[in-house]
Amino acid sequence: MHLLEISDLVVDHDPATLERLPVRRDAVVARLAAAGDRRGARIAAGLACDGDGVLDPCAVDRRLVAVHTELQRLSEELRIGERIAELLRPILAAASAAEPGVPLRVVDVGCGLGYLVRWLAASAVLSTAQPVDLVGVDFNAALVAEAERLARAENLPCRFVRGDAFAPDQRAPGGVTVYVSTGVLHHFRGSDLPAFFAAQSASGAAAFCHFDIAATGLAPIGAHVFHRARMRDPLGRHDGVVSARRAHDDATLLRAAGHADGMVPLVYEPRGRSNPFCTTLRPVIGVRPGLLPALREGLGRRPSGRLVGELV
Ligand SMILES: C[S@@+](CC[C@H](N)C(=O)[O-])C[C@H]1O[C@@H](n2cnc3c(N)ncnc32)[C@H](O)[C@@H]1O
Repeated sequence: MHLLEISDLVVDHDPATLERLPVRRDAVVARLAAAGDRRGARIAAGLACDGDGVLDPCAVDRRLVAVHTELQRLSEELRIGERIAELLRPILAAASAAEPGVPLRVVDVGCGLGYLVRWLAASAVLSTAQPVDLVGVDFNAALVAEAERLARAENLPCRFVRGDAFAPDQRAPGGVTVYVSTGVLHHFRGSDLPAFFAAQSASGAAAFCHFDIAATGLAPIGAHVFHRARMRDPLGRHDGVVSARRAHDDATLLRAAGHADGMVPLVYEPRGRSNPFCTTLRPVIGVRPGLLPALREGLGRRPSGRLVGELV
């Protein structure tokens, strides 16, 4: 069965202008039905649309904000902020040792409601000699607006902008940029996955670190249990379980990340978390070769995981 997430089907943008494009409800229902997903088709059939059968964009946005608000619990429970910070600190330290004094920027691609960026800003765990500019990017205007609202409510030093993951334009001028993401890679299929990594190396990034669901045999069961227990919205439950079922395996991620020219692709495997229920999210990393020795050394002082990759 071809696995589809409803949230990917109900929003469409012109990739050049990011202008929102109308989406017909019957087209969404037909795609899910053709994929053999009767439950997904039923959920999509219940979405509000106008007299011409075009999905109501405001209702879709409200639903996506609600689903992402529930999704934030997953990030909190999996301590995604701490796990990314554990890798970001040595990556940023290696990059600033290579180019002392240059501005540092972390860009969260497909940031949704920006939980990760807001957590990094609130906890200040990345405080180094230089401040780190924290930016979240998403092509969905409603999610970006809500992320910005939540950040302003806490007066957090971070910002959110609209942008396309395949045309990254948030590089720190004259500085070091590290791209990160959580729960985004499995949305990119076929040639989009290598294109995603290639765009980041082409934009001059020093490194990337993208966390997504580990493709273990137990991941779909874990996702089912979590989404039944912690999520209320049927759309969120549906997409959460599909996400785990279509997670990319490590070999696919390493192959795709190999399209980031001039970067070394790696997977970071947390030690002592070999239980497949615990290894729920795992990152694929890319670094400029000159940063690798310092990154290895930085991680060595906190030996909670190991780098795995064809070139290590
Ligand atoms: C499953 S959500 C994850 C959101 C967030 N990172 C989190 O962990 O809660 C995937 C996000 O990727 C965004 N997205 C998908 N394709 C994108 C693209 N081409 N450019 C920018 N954002 C994209 C979606 O709008 C959505 O917010």
